[in-house]
Amino acid sequence: MKEQGKIWMNNKFVPFKDAKVHVLTHALHYSTAVFEGIRCYNTPKGSMIFRLPEHVNRLFSSAKMYSMKMPYSKKQISDAIIKTVRNSTMKECYIRPIAYYSYGMLGLTPTANKIDVAIACVEALQEYTKAGKIRGTRCKVSKWLRIDSKSQPMQAKAASNYGNAALARVEALSEGYDESIMLNYQGKVAEGSAENIFVVNEGKICTPPLSAGILPGITRDSVIKIAETKKLSVTEKNVDVKDLYSADEIFMTGTASEIKPVTEINNKTIGNGKPGKLTLKLHKVFMDIVSARDKRFLKWLTPV
Ligand SMILES: Cc1ncc(COP(=O)(O)O)c(C=O)c1O
Repeated sequence: MKEQGKIWMNNKFVPFKDAKVHVLTHALHYSTAVFEGIRCYNTPKGSMIFRLPEHVNRLFSSAKMYSMKMPYSKKQISDAIIKTVRNSTMKECYIRPIAYYSYGMLGLTPTANKIDVAIACVEALQEYTKAGKIRGTRCKVSKWLRIDSKSQPMQAKAASNYGNAALARVEALSEGYDESIMLNYQGKVAEGSAENIFVVNEGKICTPPLSAGILPGITRDSVIKIAETKKLSVTEKNVDVKDLYSADEIFMTGTASEIKPVTEINNKTIGNGKPGKLTLKLHKVFMDIVSARDKRFLKWLTPV
């Protein structure tokens, strides 16, 4: 990443190289951090942040699940995010707010430590290339199971979920795939290591329910709402691995990936091996929305 611009840390802007944490930071030892991934798009109407209130709401609900008392209000965090983007002078960027238990008391109990909050902007998440999206993603069903929601709240976007996801990602990459698909303890499809998943069959779309132990993705929610306006049926239901192999189309959704087609799973071709028609249609509508070209969805964009 380019080491440039300023990072918002505890209500102050600090130069990129000075945005450091102490080695005894609780979150570094015990993964007690919650974060967000948000995107700002360069549109003809100026720079726009996609679904900012929803991301801030999720950050606060993740914090609550980890008993973190956020030292700022939602309004303060939203304003700080907008200011950080403005200060970055980037017209388009990926925004990473993070709240974490800081240092003071070494030991498992997090709540004795203060909560620090930081907000950074980078040009883009480097691992997501446009080429991969056009070619279609090749996925591997991971041997690592998604952590069960009875073990920790998987609906929180918490750092502690991502050791599990990183194992699956590395497994997939080391075997020559682009991404992993994780199953839950019931053997049902949960999600990708950093995306939600959708399956299309005979024009009908389905996606695993939140009860499958997945992150309530904001892109997932956007796709469901877009589909409704297009009179497309989306059902939230459990998906088996065999449903993946027999699907006409599969796509993944996420802030970084947007809507990306999956064309192969475990070396088996999905549909005709090309990005599906419905996937491409939803992708186009989504790109029109984030580019402020769709009037009905301007409410999803916050101007910078
Ligand atoms: C595990 C996981 N699932 C799903 C998603 C997609 O969520 P969103 O669309 O809110 O980016 C992400 C994105 O960060 C993720 O990490």
